[in-house]
Amino acid sequence: MRYLEDVVLKKWSAAVLAGALAVGALAGCGGGDDAGSSGGGGDDKITMGFSQVGAESGWRTANTKSIQESAAAAGIDLKFSDAQGKQENQIKAIRSFIAQRVDVIAFSPVVESGWDTVLKEAKDANIPVILTDRSVDSQDKTLYKTFIGSDFVLEGKKAGEWLVKEYEGKSDPVNIVELQGTPGAAPANDRKAGFAEVIKADPKFKIVASQTGQFTRTDGKEVMEAFLKSQPKIDVLYAHNDDMGLGAIEAIEAAGKKPGTDIKIITVDAVKDGMTALAAGKINYIVECSPLLGPQLMDLAKKVKAGETVEQRVLTQETTFTQEQAKTALPDRKY
Ligand code: AHR
Repeated sequence: MRYLEDVVLKKWSAAVLAGALAVGALAGCGGGDDAGSSGGGGDDKITMGFSQVGAESGWRTANTKSIQESAAAAGIDLKFSDAQGKQENQIKAIRSFIAQRVDVIAFSPVVESGWDTVLKEAKDANIPVILTDRSVDSQDKTLYKTFIGSDFVLEGKKAGEWLVKEYEGKSDPVNIVELQGTPGAAPANDRKAGFAEVIKADPKFKIVASQTGQFTRTDGKEVMEAFLKSQPKIDVLYAHNDDMGLGAIEAIEAAGKKPGTDIKIITVDAVKDGMTALAAGKINYIVECSPLLGPQLMDLAKKVKAGETVEQRVLTQETTFTQEQAKTALPDRKY
């Protein structure tokens, strides 16, 4: 039955291929992207359409590299599309992948909401979807096969737990400023929630300002400059990723303060630049979020294509780093 469906759908794919090329062009997938190029699914080689968030951070660059290298190593034909931070670009790219009849669609959703319609289109076309890195808030879990990535709430909790320990036995108020990730993105929502849940147990912790820094260094710097002007006393910065923390460090130093000493800094990711700042004492603690999802993603794609059952949730293994641990880990840090 599944075979017959595939035959019918592949015949249909030849008919829509020309249309797919046009859709791909509309999707803004040029400039090195591959979402608009020729369709897959015609032979044994698996074709994967992947829609990436963008290139907002060191984490994202490492994630893209991991996916591209792993696809090549696994013999998977990867159609890669960069959404440049826009959900509408991702939706167009996914529709283009559907029209091209790729074997598997994988994507890292820019934001959590608003995916049901396009995911239903993929399901109706019989193309399995693998959520990568970030999840969606769809109630219907049959719209995707699996979700591989981190537990962002846990990451936020780990950041909060370090802070609670750091100020154990002290009673003075602790003023915290928070640099949030992209509004509506799962890691921004969840890292905020996890952190807040842990620190709420002690009223001395107060988030005095919280604003998005869009997961970028530039915005992290700009927003921190504004925090430094508007807040008379900042004890701690909690940044949802290394890049925003690194931008904030520039702002703190420009304001004549010592990052890591005058203002304690907690970030998430543990990319090489973040780890370097941690080892140098400019960051106090980093919660790891691994971008190296490529090999597992390719394994999952092969299983899904072969009709094997896969776990609905594949969790990434991660750790945390103190300044001392960063010094040890840094020489071997790959990204
Ligand atoms: O979704 C993962 C997050 O997205 C990373 O922590 C951040 O750096 C990235 O941009």
